[in-house]
Amino acid sequence: MSKPTYILGLSCYYHDAGVVLLKDGNIVFAAQEERYTRKKQDDRLPVSATAKALGFAGITIDDIDAVGFYEKPMLKFFDRILSTYFKTWPLGLRQYQMAMQEWMHTKLWIPQQIEKELGYKGKIFYVQHHESHAASSFYCSGFEDATTVTVDGVGEWATTTIGYGKGKKLDLKKEIHFPHSLGLLYSAITYYIGFKVNSAEYKVMGLAPYGEPKYVDQFRELITIKDDGSFNLNMKYFTYEHGLKMTGKKIETLFGQPTRKPESDLTQFHKDIAASVQKITEEAMLKICKHAKEICPSDNLCLAGGVALNCVANGEILRSGLFKDIFIQPAAGDAGGALGVALSIWHKKFDGQRSPRINDVFWGTEYSDDAIRSLLDAEGLPYESLDESTLIDRVSSLLEGENVIGWFQDRMEFGPRALGNRSIIADARNKANWKKVNLKIKFREDFRPFAPTVLEENTSEYFALDCESPYMLLVADVHPEKREVIPAVTHVDGSARIQTINEAQNPKYYNLIKAFREKTGCAVIINTSFNVRGEPIVESPEDALNCFLNTHMDYLVMGNILIEKSKMPADRILQSGDYLQKFELD
Ligand SMILES: [Fe+2]
Repeated sequence: MSKPTYILGLSCYYHDAGVVLLKDGNIVFAAQEERYTRKKQDDRLPVSATAKALGFAGITIDDIDAVGFYEKPMLKFFDRILSTYFKTWPLGLRQYQMAMQEWMHTKLWIPQQIEKELGYKGKIFYVQHHESHAASSFYCSGFEDATTVTVDGVGEWATTTIGYGKGKKLDLKKEIHFPHSLGLLYSAITYYIGFKVNSAEYKVMGLAPYGEPKYVDQFRELITIKDDGSFNLNMKYFTYEHGLKMTGKKIETLFGQPTRKPESDLTQFHKDIAASVQKITEEAMLKICKHAKEICPSDNLCLAGGVALNCVANGEILRSGLFKDIFIQPAAGDAGGALGVALSIWHKKFDGQRSPRINDVFWGTEYSDDAIRSLLDAEGLPYESLDESTLIDRVSSLLEGENVIGWFQDRMEFGPRALGNRSIIADARNKANWKKVNLKIKFREDFRPFAPTVLEENTSEYFALDCESPYMLLVADVHPEKREVIPAVTHVDGSARIQTINEAQNPKYYNLIKAFREKTGCAVIINTSFNVRGEPIVESPEDALNCFLNTHMDYLVMGNILIEKSKMPADRILQSGDYLQKFELD
């Protein structure tokens, strides 16, 4: 038997770092560095995650045939950063100096860093940032051909691309360049509303339904959207080309209010601004997709890039009927670039075969029940070890009412969402759970909505959605008569960010919800990520136990092991008043 081909994809040095390991084109392992270093959106070279990937596959770095880097650093640095500097000089001096310093220390020397930190001396391939995004979606979609659309903050120069994939080929046909960027517009407004840029954009999306899009006219001063989806930002309102902030005084004058201070009160004005930027984003996304269909016609659409995590816009694209089928890369942000570059190398350099559509994203680390028991024994904490069917019976009963349960199972998800292996779950019928989970478990703002997981076969009973949504990337309406049935996952505008689940994707999670349905008649539960505000999603049993002990969570289930808060020694519960302090609030 010939030796398999191993390809390692890397994304780092900008947003969230990630690693992907392919064996003969199949995804063996994928994870974000933040999960191991416990630093949210850690952008450093993913040394820890790479060690886990190699360990999982039982290989060493010497077995790797090719490494891929998810963007072209020289193009990004010398071309965009330097030319932006000269364009805006002397305004951009400070930004330039900081960028230069950072790059001289680490980023310019990517091959040397990879050799030094990972011990890899072989060939490194570089693929452009947006081609990596597009590849991560197209090659995972299973489509024979597809129109591709990628939209994010910025890669090298591109901020938006349209392309076409067929078989092993994928080409980008049209681009919009920095500084004109839908992602950066959204980030600028995130900054203006007082949330953390590159991290809390989803809060703006969650806030939007509380407001009215009253400021759309003012937004037309900020951005001109043409019928073909191309757009121009009016750069006199933005300072990210030359400053360290996203916006300045001019935008405050335009909207008539100062930039909100983080953690200060959110007023109706902020909600209306959120609603307005959301409306503008949806309008632009729809026009881009319409134009993409015209110039790269296909019945199928593949989406990726950070803006593809805007599930409200995705729902609009789906309902527009422009495409028969849509695939959205679940790791649509920059960590997913590692997947795209690895798949791109497999198809374009190694002429490898296409794979069918991915079935799930459970590609990270896993822990056995023995390892979990060893931890609990060492900690001297009581637990029950059950067989799987007894566990599912018990937990589905415990879910009824106000119990909030940490659900830690099998391999960790790749991408920003917890999809049933590193999740906190609760009864969606109980409205009080919305507040309880936000304030007493996640310690986050009470306006933030929760997403439902629904058994795939019951989706249309609850939601105006007639396709699957396994990665929680589509928003659709809850049927009016069901809104009071599942109030804890129904947003103020009657919508929900839906995760559908079938047995093949995750049999244990599916069977748990099925057992809950048999007991209660309800096929929907709350699913939110297993972490507190500012903390990366838990990776290991230690992380899960820490989070459980330091929040008001009622039960923790790890593998087939059940842990009850009321049986924990009093001196172990909520002892670290400083638990939250460990994490930087977003
Ligand atoms: Fe990106």
